[in-house]
Amino acid sequence: MRSHMCGEINETLDGQSVTLCGWVDRRRDLGGLIFIGLRDNAGIVQVVVEPESAAFTDAEKLRNEYCIRVHGTVRMRPESQWNESMATGKIDVVAEHVELLNASAPIPLLMTDEDGEEIRLRYRYLDLRRQRMQKNMRIRSQLNQAIHKALGGHGFSEFETPILTKATPEGARDYLVPSRVHAGKFFALPQSPQLFKQLLMMAGMDRYYQIARCFRDEDLRADRQPEFTQLDMELSFVGEAGVQTVAEDLIRAVFTDVLQVELPAEFPRMTWQDALENYGSDKPDLRYPMRLESVDKHVSHVDFRVFSGPANAEGQRVAALRVPGGAGFSRKKIDEYTAYVARYGAKGLAWIKVNDAEAGLEGLQSPIAKFLDESAWRGIAAQTGAESGDLLFFGAGEWLQTSTFMGHLLVRCGQDLELASSGWQPLWVTDFPMFEWDEDNQRHVAMHHPFTAPLVDSADDLRAAPAEALSRGYDMVLNGAEIGGGSIRIHKPDMQQAVFELLGISEQEAEAKFGFLLEALRYGCPPHGGIAFGLDRIAALMAGEASIRDVIAFPKTTTAQCPLTDAPSAIAPAQLDELHIQVKSGKVS
Ligand code: AMO
Ligand code: AMP
Repeated sequence: MRSHMCGEINETLDGQSVTLCGWVDRRRDLGGLIFIGLRDNAGIVQVVVEPESAAFTDAEKLRNEYCIRVHGTVRMRPESQWNESMATGKIDVVAEHVELLNASAPIPLLMTDEDGEEIRLRYRYLDLRRQRMQKNMRIRSQLNQAIHKALGGHGFSEFETPILTKATPEGARDYLVPSRVHAGKFFALPQSPQLFKQLLMMAGMDRYYQIARCFRDEDLRADRQPEFTQLDMELSFVGEAGVQTVAEDLIRAVFTDVLQVELPAEFPRMTWQDALENYGSDKPDLRYPMRLESVDKHVSHVDFRVFSGPANAEGQRVAALRVPGGAGFSRKKIDEYTAYVARYGAKGLAWIKVNDAEAGLEGLQSPIAKFLDESAWRGIAAQTGAESGDLLFFGAGEWLQTSTFMGHLLVRCGQDLELASSGWQPLWVTDFPMFEWDEDNQRHVAMHHPFTAPLVDSADDLRAAPAEALSRGYDMVLNGAEIGGGSIRIHKPDMQQAVFELLGISEQEAEAKFGFLLEALRYGCPPHGGIAFGLDRIAALMAGEASIRDVIAFPKTTTAQCPLTDAPSAIAPAQLDELHIQVKSGKVS
């Protein structure tokens, strides 16, 4: 039907006849000429229909998104009309024949970035026609291909693991599928292939990978979908360095392949403790030239309980954040930041504007300056590097909570002041605590998942001090996004049992849920470990998109629905009956 793709036409084809197929992106009538932006998967080319052309009357009838075929000749534009920002911007295709392949009903979208999410997803097949979305889908496809290419070279085999399976705990709720043949029983969709990939290592498969769909019923955000894709990997006979080297090589290779970007030869490593202490986040964005400073020693003696209390208490801190140029912030702006950190549990946010760094306390503007003395201020100024024109924010209180709200503030100020450096900042975060304390349920929960090995060697050592135990887990972070997470696994049954026990999972429950794993661990399980990357997040970073929904062809809304197909939807009573399911009356939405 066609000789070329629209986006491929350029000056090298000057004078040649071409036949193109695509959609009318835009039609303009100018001084008797008709200009058509003709779009296909490769890009847009400008078609010109001259009044004397046989195609003119057909071209007059065209509307946006009509599907057409054009035969014409490539012609150089005069230099004054070159559009250097378009690959096809130096030429036109002068139409000799325009054939209507299919008309379009009036388009219900603007087909621009102005369209709202709901309507974009309702008419996703139209939204995807846009160049931005065509580019995003292409990047995603290139990413998948680059992964297969890179891992083939590392001795990996590709496996498929079950979708209809048993719950795999990754911290979210399960999506369940009722069984027709086993009344009252349910499959769970996998939150990840975690247990199957471990079983494959026990099966001697040595190196596994899969581009795997995962399902998690959790609160959705820009970087979370109920179904998403992981690049999932597992290796036998490796420690942390063995997994991390392969993972780094892979990420470097795909960035070179897809974006022609060279990532650093070795990614920096940071412990979880240092990441929170210095950046207030377990996924620090190293593009921002800011960090948190613990100023406890300078304020431990001051007559201001908000500071001196935490400064002298175990497990608490006073953290300062220097915002370069922040002295220009209005009161309203500072109030907005105070409200922002309150969302993360902050009880207040102290601040100091440094109007004149040379003038000591006299040069400050702040509601708390009156509580400081010269020595306190000098200490703070020296440690934070405060200069005239800066603003210092202070958070005080429990270590983790204070670090976390100050970390959110760091990123927010960095974004508002556009302080991010360009480029890519990957790093590993390591030495996570093994467990987190769940206040609501008064119990330990696994920080990674219950199959992650602790840094201690024996189950008794772990039982002796679980709250202090660190895990052999690691996350890969890129520009402030957690793009992958993994660990060295428990490969001994007694250790696995100890971890279940510490998580409050009884022996019976462990047997019922993970009996098959505990059993398999008894048959010569090799030491093993792995990682899973969030492919949607990597694709979004590569495409420069803020939401992973823009790199997924058919995503769900933030309320976990699909406006296009209207899923989830009600089921006919007969089908429910067959599945032995009765919906509670009054519960159908
Ligand atoms: P984890 O739960 O950290 O680890 O997931 C790995 C990576 O998957 C991505 N991710 C998501 N992406 C989109 N939407 C979601 N709802 C979502 N949840 C997670 C993140 C994350 O880093 N089995 C372990 C891996 C292992 O231990 O090998 C696991 O699933 O980028
Ligand atoms: P207050 O004594 O509560 O009125 O607070 C005095 C100043 O300290 C105000 O500027 C508060 O915003 C600030 N402040 C209160 N609690 C904290 C906290 N936990 N961290 C940092 N600043 C705080």
